[in-house]
Amino acid sequence: MKALLIATKNKGKVREIADMLAPMGIRVTSLLDHAGMPEIIEDGITFRANAAKKAVVIARHTGLVVMGEDSGLEVDALGGRPGVYSARYAGEGADDEANNDLLLKELSGVPDEKRTARYRCAMALADKDALVDVVEGACEGRIASVRRGSNGFGYDPLFLIPSRQKTFGELDLAVKHTMSHRADALRKFLKLLENYLVRTEHF
Ligand code: IMP
Repeated sequence: MKALLIATKNKGKVREIADMLAPMGIRVTSLLDHAGMPEIIEDGITFRANAAKKAVVIARHTGLVVMGEDSGLEVDALGGRPGVYSARYAGEGADDEANNDLLLKELSGVPDEKRTARYRCAMALADKDALVDVVEGACEGRIASVRRGSNGFGYDPLFLIPSRQKTFGELDLAVKHTMSHRADALRKFLKLLENYLVRTEHF
């Protein structure tokens, strides 16, 4: 079976990527399955830069074919924040609850039509020798004024899909997988991976 190492410890991301790759017969492992991995400092100012760094560092260390993934939320009324700082928006080590609380606080009084936002996701492919390429995906939505639903992770209870009148917290994960920033990026990543595998006769 084909295997891909995802350079993340985020269980929500791993579950989503594993679910989406399973139909293609690609088995996923993550940094949670491998001991002694180097610490990656996410100091890039773009999702692309962080995704590339994660992929290259872990591929070089393990000799495996690696996906680096970096994602986050851009809120228009906040000038694009929290962006690459989404995981630590409410401070280093902040949990989803604290991040969502801060988001609601910063947007208090902002009317619905000005609460536009998007999730972005960059996925990089690397092997032990080089960075192969980086692709990106996005998903447009709006920030709700109260949490709704408990599916997904991160900002999902606040991320409203206007066409469905539901948040990602309320929508089934299977539905999220058809329309999310991660699904959008993954479609492009799969093309990249296929080309890479044909070229290198890997796996
Ligand atoms: P990083 O890519 O590990 O730096 O962190 C990404 C952060 O963005 C997560 O910790 C979440 O807060 C947020 N995020 C990214 N993708 C999603 C998603 O699909 N749902 C909810 N939050 C997300």
